[in-house]
Amino acid sequence: MTRKQKQLSFLPEAKREKFQPPWEQARSLEELEQIVSDCRSCRLRDSCRQVVFGEGNSKAEIMLVGEGPGRAEDEIGRPFVGAAGELLDKIFSAAGLQRAEVFICNVVKCRPPGNRLPTPDEVRACLPYLRAQLRIIKPKIVISLGALASQTLIDPSVRITRDRGRWISKDGLLIMPTFHPAALLRDPKKKKPVWDDIQAVMRRYEQMKG
Ligand code: URA
Repeated sequence: MTRKQKQLSFLPEAKREKFQPPWEQARSLEELEQIVSDCRSCRLRDSCRQVVFGEGNSKAEIMLVGEGPGRAEDEIGRPFVGAAGELLDKIFSAAGLQRAEVFICNVVKCRPPGNRLPTPDEVRACLPYLRAQLRIIKPKIVISLGALASQTLIDPSVRITRDRGRWISKDGLLIMPTFHPAALLRDPKKKKPVWDDIQAVMRRYEQMKG
């Protein structure tokens, strides 16, 4: 529950809804996507082509969260379709996971110009949408890809090189921080640790499925 929701929790539901922003009222991903596609909360929407909401199974037990759309994602409107996405697909298929089984999205839904890191205020502006995606999908496991996603979902003090591969429980989620696939393209030595992390996720996922 957000601080705002707690503050309003004494009100009857009908009254509470009047104070709730539309993304907190959205009951489906389709409804939420419509709201996010109209967003103008930060400057990123002025320079990108389109909002990249995310895609996949609306009841996914595993959700992957990256940083923000790159050039290919901005052109096509889907997450992880460029070189990093191709590598992610290879990792999925080696692990026996279908892309359609999971939900994939990013911390920020609009491409930062020149693929720069999203600024803290851009992350803050977009975070309610990621929270709403988590509330609607209710994944059991979240894989945070890279430092920005891990720091956003877990804690700003996360250091990805130190903390990857360790399960973190936060807000009812089980989070596995790992390296971003783009980092593996730059440094193939990171492939093995990521493979270990994905294997740990698969073991936990299989246990959950019983
Ligand atoms: N990098 C990301 O973090 N997300 C994408 O969707 C593509 C590349």
